Amino acid sequence: MIFTSIMEAKVESLNHILGNATAEKIVATIYAEFGEKVAFSSSLGAEDQVLTDMVMKHAKGMRIFTLDTGRLFPETYDLIARTNNKYKTKIEVFFPDYQQVQEMVNTKGINLFFDSVDHRKLCCRLRKIEPLKRAFSGLDAWVCGLRASQSVTREGLKVVEWDSANGLVKINPLANWTEEQVWAYLNDNKVPYNPLHDKGFPSIGCQPCTRAVMPGEDVRAGRWYWENPDTKECGLHKR
Ligand code: ADX
Ligand code: SF4
Repeated sequence: MIFTSIMEAKVESLNHILGNATAEKIVATIYAEFGEKVAFSSSLGAEDQVLTDMVMKHAKGMRIFTLDTGRLFPETYDLIARTNNKYKTKIEVFFPDYQQVQEMVNTKGINLFFDSVDHRKLCCRLRKIEPLKRAFSGLDAWVCGLRASQSVTREGLKVVEWDSANGLVKINPLANWTEEQVWAYLNDNKVPYNPLHDKGFPSIGCQPCTRAVMPGEDVRAGRWYWENPDTKECGLHKR
């Protein structure tokens, strides 16, 4: 309890300092503050590629990890390799527990996520949340590529938040960015990105659970496209 209130006070003071700072300044300050106790969680999406570029330029040494659910697009795997090559880095890859996945698939089916929201959430829990918990080991803070304007579930997002579900400080350097800013940054800085973005995929998750969107459709309309917008979070970002 005391620990939580100390951390909440820290979040408030960091927000005071960083709430209106540039994303570059946020990334650099957070790394100076937390050092090896902070890591960046990247899905290799457009926002995350902006942050990878910033980490490599302004916070070199900050750990970058990704969660390989086993159901990602081939283009995403290629992008892990391309990003590692360009920045001479090694994005850490966390995998799900094979026994849990094996049990789930053999009892509920390989594509169980289409059957019900509960089955979809179970799959996300085993393939993403459980490995994420392991990735958090030893951390006090994590960096994400969330933007407030991405969806109704992300409205009011702050640059620095207390992530009570995980007991960590959560930093969203792009919280106030628009999609246009993301693309201007990627183009200006020649950052490698997923070619699926040019084929109608603004938001990319697992292959079976992501479709392209039509012009004018919401950026996350292609994620769990068969579900209601209010349920469309995988549990990585409980708020
Ligand atoms: S999700 O919750 O719907 O999957 P989204 O794809 O919008 O999230 O990504 C939001 C942020 O969550 C990313 O910027 C990244 O920080 C984190 N994230 C999502 N998927 C992964 C992943 N597979 N590995 C690591 N981080 C991820
Ligand atoms: Fe499973 Fe789909 Fe969630 Fe990926 S996005 S972990 S395939 S339910």
